[in-house]
Amino acid sequence: MKKLLFQLDPDPVPSVFDTVVGYDGGADHVKIYGGINPDNVGVLVDGAIFTRSPKEKKYTALFVGGSNMEAGQNLLNAVRKKFFADFRVSVMLDSNGSNTTAAAGVALLAKAVPLKGKRAVVLAGTGPVGQRAAALLAEEGCDVTITSRKLERAQQACQLMQKRFNVKLKAVEAFDDHDREAALKGAQIVFGAGAAGVELITEDEWKNNPTIEAMADTNATPPLGLGGVDMMDKIKERHGKKVIGAIGLGALKLKMHRACIAQLFESNDQVLDAEEIYAVAKAMA
Ligand SMILES: NC(=O)c1ccc[n+]([C@@H]2O[C@H](COP(=O)([O-])OP(=O)(O)OC[C@H]3O[C@@H](n4cnc5c(N)ncnc54)[C@H](OP(=O)(O)O)[C@@H]3O)[C@@H](O)[C@H]2O)c1
Repeated sequence: MKKLLFQLDPDPVPSVFDTVVGYDGGADHVKIYGGINPDNVGVLVDGAIFTRSPKEKKYTALFVGGSNMEAGQNLLNAVRKKFFADFRVSVMLDSNGSNTTAAAGVALLAKAVPLKGKRAVVLAGTGPVGQRAAALLAEEGCDVTITSRKLERAQQACQLMQKRFNVKLKAVEAFDDHDREAALKGAQIVFGAGAAGVELITEDEWKNNPTIEAMADTNATPPLGLGGVDMMDKIKERHGKKVIGAIGLGALKLKMHRACIAQLFESNDQVLDAEEIYAVAKAMA
């Protein structure tokens, strides 16, 4: 029986990255759909859940991607609403690599230093990766702040994560690197989640910070997000802080993403969202 993965992407142009990892994770065939939303996903889910016998259903799986976290969350909810009794297939949510990248970064931070009770700042945390990283850090017991160039965007990201994860997050406006340096006062944990090619903070702005214990960066496109952190760093000591670069965590992200795709085909009842993907990351970190 062929392993079929249906890639459901809210964006008009679906992610090639997600297709490649779909195959590398073990799917025999990846069928890609763009422009998918809660109103048009129903027939696709019906096709996935009504076609194969109970024992064979595990060979069909769904993947929800796209660049927008809220659209991905809403699409996953709409997919799950169509499931009933054993008429279901396994599904994974990873909008813009949000869950896998955030899980890899937070799992490595947790390996580097204890997180419980620490103050964590997610710089430029309004994108999919930053939002999920903030939620996972809060679930690890951190007091988490999300920064954005616009306060309303940080507040919106906090609200979205609070609603989904029942965690309390703080929003701070930080327009430039000086504001972001100020936002790091008293923080022990830093997670850089800015857009590709954007330096969020220079090395001089963090190297003498007396409280920072560990930092992770996700941006692998020069200039990197955290100045002075090499993209290959993987829990490397720099200026007395343990740092993780974008490829340092990206290797784990890719390994886990593939492992999660493989896991989808083990049974027909799994929902791989942030918590489940984070469990895989912690086991593999
Ligand atoms: N290492 C890996 O394996 C891996 C995997 C996936 C993604 N990534 C990387 O992870 C990072 C986060 O991904 P994402 O999809 O969540 O990012 P994103 O949505 O593209 O951007 C995140 C935030 O960056 C801020 N930003 C954009 N331009 C900026 C500028 N010029 N100055 C300051 N802030 C700016 C924006 O926040 P505000 O507008 O609210 O300020 C935006 O919401 C990206 O760099 C991505 O390439 C890495």
